[in-house]
Amino acid sequence: MGDERYDFVVASNRLPVDRVVDDTGASSWRPSPGGLVTALEPIMREADGAWVGWVGQPDLELEPFDWDGIRIVPLKLTEHDLENYYEGFANDTLWPLYHDVIAPPSYHRVWWDSYVSVNQRFANAIAAVSAPDATVWVQDYQLQLVPRMLRQARPDLTIGFFNHIPFPAYGIFSQLPWRAQIIEGLLGADVIGFQRVADAGNFSRAVRRLLGYATKSPVIEVPSHGRAPARRVIAKPFPISIDVDTFERLARSPEVQARAAQIRHDLGDPKTIMLGVDRLDYTKGIGHRLKAYGELLHEGRLKVEDVTLVQVASPSRERVETYRQLRDEIEQTVGRINGDYGTISHQAVSYLHHGFPREEMAALYLAADVMLVTALRDGMNLVAKEYVAARFDDDGVLVLSEFTGASDELRTALLINPHDIEGVKDAIMRAIEMPRAERVKRMRAMRKRVRENDVNRWSEGFLRTLAEARRRSGERSSD
Ligand code: F6P
Repeated sequence: MGDERYDFVVASNRLPVDRVVDDTGASSWRPSPGGLVTALEPIMREADGAWVGWVGQPDLELEPFDWDGIRIVPLKLTEHDLENYYEGFANDTLWPLYHDVIAPPSYHRVWWDSYVSVNQRFANAIAAVSAPDATVWVQDYQLQLVPRMLRQARPDLTIGFFNHIPFPAYGIFSQLPWRAQIIEGLLGADVIGFQRVADAGNFSRAVRRLLGYATKSPVIEVPSHGRAPARRVIAKPFPISIDVDTFERLARSPEVQARAAQIRHDLGDPKTIMLGVDRLDYTKGIGHRLKAYGELLHEGRLKVEDVTLVQVASPSRERVETYRQLRDEIEQTVGRINGDYGTISHQAVSYLHHGFPREEMAALYLAADVMLVTALRDGMNLVAKEYVAARFDDDGVLVLSEFTGASDELRTALLINPHDIEGVKDAIMRAIEMPRAERVKRMRAMRKRVRENDVNRWSEGFLRTLAEARRRSGERSSD
């Protein structure tokens, strides 16, 4: 692996770059779509940073390499790891559990064993590339055991952890057979970041209930264990965001605006275009949205000549059974709505089972009069923030589930409870009929908020808290 050591190391299940192989078999790397790369890229370059993660394909062993000024340290996951650690424990145990058991979580000991083993390999790889006293930032629920494993191997490191998804209430979390190990794993970090105030509160409560440690928000007192000294851990919210400037610049470009006009035209210039953009995941409430829309068409409150719903559903975790079932259900519902209400010239739902580049997304946001975010539970929902960032014209209405982290900030969206189908229907009608003056007022307030709290603020805020926590713990240990 070479002897290079880095002062700032980020670790995430997936690397920030995707490996693409062209027709000739030649491979290259392109940034993966998430906002995390954009957020951390400048810091990584400045701080001599390395990024440890999986390359996205099984059984692929690659040497570390430099990509755009960042050291990429690929970690191999075998087919067995994928089935048990990733598809199993991460996405069929933790994912449904942390999203309020919308789907039933499965508990399998072999999955847990694999989770432990992959987390240990991540910790070993991070320890191997971290310079003395380096700062390490571990991302998300796939790697919750890494902070403790890393602290045991390298007590000199400053360790941060950020949970991108919700952290559930204790009544739900306590189902997990390995609940204490997860909490202990996370407490290896100096700072644990969450999306919402409620997530941080749920975590602190789990610490009190399971381990009996004293907590006084945001501080958790971890007592000494054997030779490990007593420590203070900070657990608090740092709501994540997007790179607002880049997104707005993209939306303002003449090419994207022309593309938005083309999309409207291709859809038959309906009075209203509604848009949903989601990974095809059962947490996103796509079925609830379709049900509300179908009923509005059925009741004649909406006419297919006047409105089109564009639903982008990007493929996700397709080997996990719950995701397969969801795809069948959604596609059956879309087919039924189109069959019942579509005409030769007007489709009720334009359903796209692909991911799209950012330019196309920006054009879709500009073309959409109404954006529907109906997640049943979502850590943040960056799509809501992207829509707002793209609307430099101050127009467009966001219908937003109150079960998303984004709803804490975007208070002038039309907030809905997605389980309340009548409420969703009324919100859709209100969005469609809203006078321009009200649309502008609401959108301006949201744009101000998104601008103030962009992704740089998120990463700077987290890393500042991490540096302070470490300085304070240094002062305490030298007392
Ligand atoms: O934000 C949650 C998350 O699971 C990320 O950790 C991940 O990169 C993204 O959603 C997409 O999921 P996956 O990596 O499983 O395709």
